[in-house]
Amino acid sequence: MSGDITAVIQPIVLTCADTQIVVDTHTFEQPYVPYWGPQVLAENSECARSDAIASIPQRVSGGVDSPSPLTLVPQAASGWLSTPAIEGHRAGYDFVTKLVTNSVEAAKNRVKIKLVDGEAGLSLTLDIGLTLSGLLYQQAHLTNDADADYTLDALRMFFPLPGSAVEVLDTTGHHLRERSPQRHNLTIGKYQRESRRGRPGADSPLLLAAGTKGFGFESGLVHGIHLGWSGSQRLSVELTTAADRFLVAEELFEPGEMILEPGQTYSSPVSYGAWGDGLNAVSARFHQHLRSRATHPSSPRPVTLNTWEAVYFDHDFDKLASLADRAARVGAERYVLDDGWFSGRRDDTAGLGDWFVDQTVWPKGLHPLVGRVRQEGMEFGLWVEPEMVNPDSDLARRHPEWILKGREDLPVAARQQQVLNLTNPDAYRYVRDRLLALLREYPISYLKWDHNRDLLEAGSGAGGRALAHRQTKALYNLLQELKEHQPGLEIESCASGGARIDMGIAEYTDRFHPSDCLDPQERLANQKYTGLVMPPELLGAHLTAPKVHSTGRIVDLEFSAAVALLGHFGIEWDLTGADDATLDEVSRLVEFYKQNRELISTGTVVHADLSDPALDVRGVVSEDKRNALFTITQVTTSAFHPLGMVHFPGLDPKTVYRVQLALAGGDKTGPGQSEMPWLAESMELPGAALMHPGVRAPAQNPENSLIIRIEAAK
Ligand code: GLA
Repeated sequence: MSGDITAVIQPIVLTCADTQIVVDTHTFEQPYVPYWGPQVLAENSECARSDAIASIPQRVSGGVDSPSPLTLVPQAASGWLSTPAIEGHRAGYDFVTKLVTNSVEAAKNRVKIKLVDGEAGLSLTLDIGLTLSGLLYQQAHLTNDADADYTLDALRMFFPLPGSAVEVLDTTGHHLRERSPQRHNLTIGKYQRESRRGRPGADSPLLLAAGTKGFGFESGLVHGIHLGWSGSQRLSVELTTAADRFLVAEELFEPGEMILEPGQTYSSPVSYGAWGDGLNAVSARFHQHLRSRATHPSSPRPVTLNTWEAVYFDHDFDKLASLADRAARVGAERYVLDDGWFSGRRDDTAGLGDWFVDQTVWPKGLHPLVGRVRQEGMEFGLWVEPEMVNPDSDLARRHPEWILKGREDLPVAARQQQVLNLTNPDAYRYVRDRLLALLREYPISYLKWDHNRDLLEAGSGAGGRALAHRQTKALYNLLQELKEHQPGLEIESCASGGARIDMGIAEYTDRFHPSDCLDPQERLANQKYTGLVMPPELLGAHLTAPKVHSTGRIVDLEFSAAVALLGHFGIEWDLTGADDATLDEVSRLVEFYKQNRELISTGTVVHADLSDPALDVRGVVSEDKRNALFTITQVTTSAFHPLGMVHFPGLDPKTVYRVQLALAGGDKTGPGQSEMPWLAESMELPGAALMHPGVRAPAQNPENSLIIRIEAAK
């Protein structure tokens, strides 16, 4: 402990959006956060006592003489026995650090703390703050102050948890099933989720959360973290035998990847934490924060037709032109030509890297198609996968040295492709210039930017250095350059579906493709849990072909639309085969989305915690709480017959609302079934009654949804 603990200087209290954090920089050698959670002190009030003193651990038998509680920079040299903030060395020497608080600068909602270790020749600056939505963010900058190289193995950011956090929730998944939830009890030890893939991955947790027993979307104190980084990473939660419980976020380095030369600084990605009484409140903080950015897409999200599942690699002008006609007929506003348009790309075995329009398939270039699309009043978008290269491509034949690898042989192929080394200035320039040339030649307002393989052995060549970190930085740089070149250009982040969704790449992109699986039944969980961090207007959600390509399930059109509605609506289906009645129905659904997209892009997303697992209720409530849309979905058959009550969270208890069916689902009647009384005519009820106990759930066949509008009656 530093100095006399009775002479404690007041801790810093940051308060924003009902979130409070106390940062004590004087009681211990490192900054200490005794409290992070709901506001308990009046704004601008000083801590009457030091929470830090209250939490100094006792010396106990068999332990160290001055045990340390969890600080923001825990290290062994200060008596910390668990996961440390920093790991590194100088060519095998000087592995011990003791970074100690040296100076503190506090501004409104922010604290900058500098820690120095003169003996080890290191200094660390920690930026901590609260966003206007109450997100707690941290970023660490480590500088090598000595005159020899310092190998940094890990630099971690810590988020303390309250003692009530006893249950852990995160997500896992794989291609076609991203972000499915998993839960377990927090026990002594560490639970960690890693990506060593050079991207967050389809199994990425996105949010690692810990809370009270059985915390849900509507209630239960819960804290969660996210790392704003599109490369390898680790999120963990730990409970020590000294009863410290905390969440940790860090970038994951390959061996020897992060060597700091004298004077060099490593800046970590930004890590974000949110608390809430239930996950709805946690996600609202992320959504509000993302929406407050100057770069957040603010124009109405255009209904997007994507050609992938309609034609795959089978590019044919007549077919794609008639698809454009149909797209326009049903009200699409953006037409995205997916994979298959560039040199040699007749299937997924060749062509990546050769970013020239294929002359055999497109003898007049893309002009005829782009012209048609624009004539129909739609924007034109194009699929690219700039970080990748097929060994079977002119680019790979010309520049085999531009491929990332760590040994003589190429890394194990994935989808027959390899990764281009964007940290090589020549490779970077080639890709950038090809993309710029396409943007100059065609009126392209949107790029679907794919990334279809994990990075393995991401090195500079045989026997070379690891480059995964620099590759991610180069990607950010490339996206930034393109956006600067063409203001207004929108970019979609896709990675075999949703394998690269994070707040790092969100800075440079405008939409995510949460999954290649368009099955609404599967999308329910995918969108619910991707929505823990990302707001609906960033989540691409497409109407599927009636027989879903990835699951074979036959799905109802209205069900597909109801699930896609709470996202950035699109269509990925060969409409050239649809009859007039179907096209009319699609137009009606598109129109419904257009009428409601403003609400969907600005409102608060809520999910109801229901005791019947056969039902799903989710919705979006306008900021002033006068207008809301909810979907009631019958996911499977229920144990109950008739069904029980369902409720609508997030409304204003005192407002009287009119409740109406906004869009009927498909198939939902059964033999001997009467009409649902409250659906038969519009009904008025106060918010308090709609929030609890709610209304009787209408009977529907499985895989059907109803859309309910709830509007202030006066
Ligand atoms: C990935 C994407 C798909 C599609 C294909 C094209 O799988 O997730 O949406 O763009 O690539 O090859």
